[in-house]
Amino acid sequence: MSFTTERPFLGGGYPQASILKKTAVSLTYLLGIVTFIPIVGQLANAVHTSTGSNIRRHSSLSGMMMSYSQTYMLSSSANDYIQREGPLARTGLLANIGPKGSQASGAKPGIVVASPSTSNPDYLYSWTRDSALVFKTIVDHYISSSHKNVSLRVLIDDYAHAQTQLQEVGNPSGNITTGGLGEPKFNIDLTAFEGSWGRPQRDGPALRAITLITYVNWLLDNSNTSHANTLWPTIQLDLDYVANDWNKTGFDLWEEVSSSSFWTTASQHRALRQGAALAKSLGKEDLNEKYNIQADNALCFLQSYWNPDASYVTSNTGGGRSGIDANSVLTSIHTFDPSAGCDAITFQPCSDKALSNLKVYVDSFRSIYAINQGFAENEAVATGRYPEDVYMGGNPWYLATFAVAEQLYESLSVWDAQGSLQITSISLPFFQQFSSDVQTGDYKSNTETYDKLTSEIRAFADGFIAINGRYTPDNGSLAEQYNKDDGKPTSARDLTWSYASAITAFLAHDGIVASPWGAQGLQIQTDSDGHCIANPGPMSEIVFKVEKDTVYGENVFITGSIGQLGNWDPAHAVKLDPKSYPYWSVEIEVPASISFSYKYIIQNQNSGSVAWENDPNHELQSSSEGQSMVVTDTWHN
Ligand code: NOJ
Ligand code: NOJ
Repeated sequence: MSFTTERPFLGGGYPQASILKKTAVSLTYLLGIVTFIPIVGQLANAVHTSTGSNIRRHSSLSGMMMSYSQTYMLSSSANDYIQREGPLARTGLLANIGPKGSQASGAKPGIVVASPSTSNPDYLYSWTRDSALVFKTIVDHYISSSHKNVSLRVLIDDYAHAQTQLQEVGNPSGNITTGGLGEPKFNIDLTAFEGSWGRPQRDGPALRAITLITYVNWLLDNSNTSHANTLWPTIQLDLDYVANDWNKTGFDLWEEVSSSSFWTTASQHRALRQGAALAKSLGKEDLNEKYNIQADNALCFLQSYWNPDASYVTSNTGGGRSGIDANSVLTSIHTFDPSAGCDAITFQPCSDKALSNLKVYVDSFRSIYAINQGFAENEAVATGRYPEDVYMGGNPWYLATFAVAEQLYESLSVWDAQGSLQITSISLPFFQQFSSDVQTGDYKSNTETYDKLTSEIRAFADGFIAINGRYTPDNGSLAEQYNKDDGKPTSARDLTWSYASAITAFLAHDGIVASPWGAQGLQIQTDSDGHCIANPGPMSEIVFKVEKDTVYGENVFITGSIGQLGNWDPAHAVKLDPKSYPYWSVEIEVPASISFSYKYIIQNQNSGSVAWENDPNHELQSSSEGQSMVVTDTWHN
């Protein structure tokens, strides 16, 4: 499969998959001013149509912009809604960014206000996550458009500068070297938010790194090495934080559950992978190795969220919920790499796991929202963060419903590009929604089955856009949520992230895909049980030696705090050799330059009894990569 890097000037000007033929509406309004509207072809497929009594049609954009009544925008089709909402989403997004945004007064340059709402809820803060996702949309647009908009470039540089400053702001999570990078939100004047909050949130630095790396890669491609070099220290701070701490728990993206979280791990994996590649281009080989090793480990861990019995991703390791969560759908779209095909290891949108997960996720909202009643089981419905959600009453979210559409459109793009789709036993229930008697197998794009499935899936995807359209007010404003009983917008108004999610879903609708980031061909190593093997990184050798008198049947073992010593489990302890009795010794490979503790134990092979050496533990720092050392210990009696 290949995607063109040539960027046809198609409205928004995103790189477009060469094989996609179905582009129907232009995206001229997306963050850029464009003077002509190429209509490449008409969407062949019927779109899901929502109708309702409180819905009315608008004939012109200007009429729409002047009307602020609370009737809902008719989306007779996804296309209509996209045409109308696109420019409004762009305006809404930019209005929330300082210093000039009309709804962002008081925000420093490049600072994204989550929402201008100051009460119930008060969102007049800048979240690292929201800001990074919003600026990823802007950067992607900027670097791929053929007519560069200077004011967007200024905004991107403002963003980078503001983030560099925020990294320095001491806050309740710590300072720049003690964990402060994990602070979730700041005041919009760049001071710390001191109130109590779910902190730290470890996705923020990863997402910020992804956005800035995307920008810096473009700078390097355009020979702006000096500007790239000035941004590198900011990126490296985030990458080092991720590389060192990705394995620690923190609050999930909904700021509620403190545990490990699928979205966070996946974002960290992507940041490390892209960071490793950038470090290499900048000639920083050590960092390239460091980030790749931890990327391998994060990717390994990512696999463990999959629930093979129920065929979905358990989004948080804690929290005591089902784990069904938009967390996983957002992961799929924000780590989409069009060159990675339908790879399940990185949870690509069209992977069997991601599609199975999507069905479980969507279905979990069918019965719990009144506005979802009366739809067939394979029709689009409004979706929220997770079915157990009670925040603001527990409602559908625009960005969650858009994410479903986006995952489906991205899947369609990849299938089109590769000329086939594959159904496995894992994804079969997803596909059976559209054709009850379909079987597992490979379906080439010239088959009837492929045609039927893809046109049904496109209509399904359009349905999610149309549902959001149905509950979007006349003026096009997108709040955070809409009420599950009557569809009225609720919670924070004009949520910047809602606008960004509309823009990326609309681009995906037109088959315009973001650039690859390095997910292609990634593999994990597994042991004989199929479990992923972590990458311990560079190793060094240690010879452990201890003097101990024993009786027949007794053997000396070593165990300790690292995997190579069995993690304190006598059953996995390492046996020493008595060849120079009473000296026992063994040579063990351990990760280089780490600190660990250990003890010697005696196991009696006849009785099975274990006798531990007395406290304290032995403590040791391993030598650097490739070095070896000999440690002669005295037994602690
Ligand atoms: C505010 C957070 O932003 C939101 O995600 C969360 O659901 C509520 N607090 C309740 O914890
Ligand atoms: C609450 C959401 O749960 C969280 O993800 C987001 O960062 C904040 N609101 C700000 O939009």
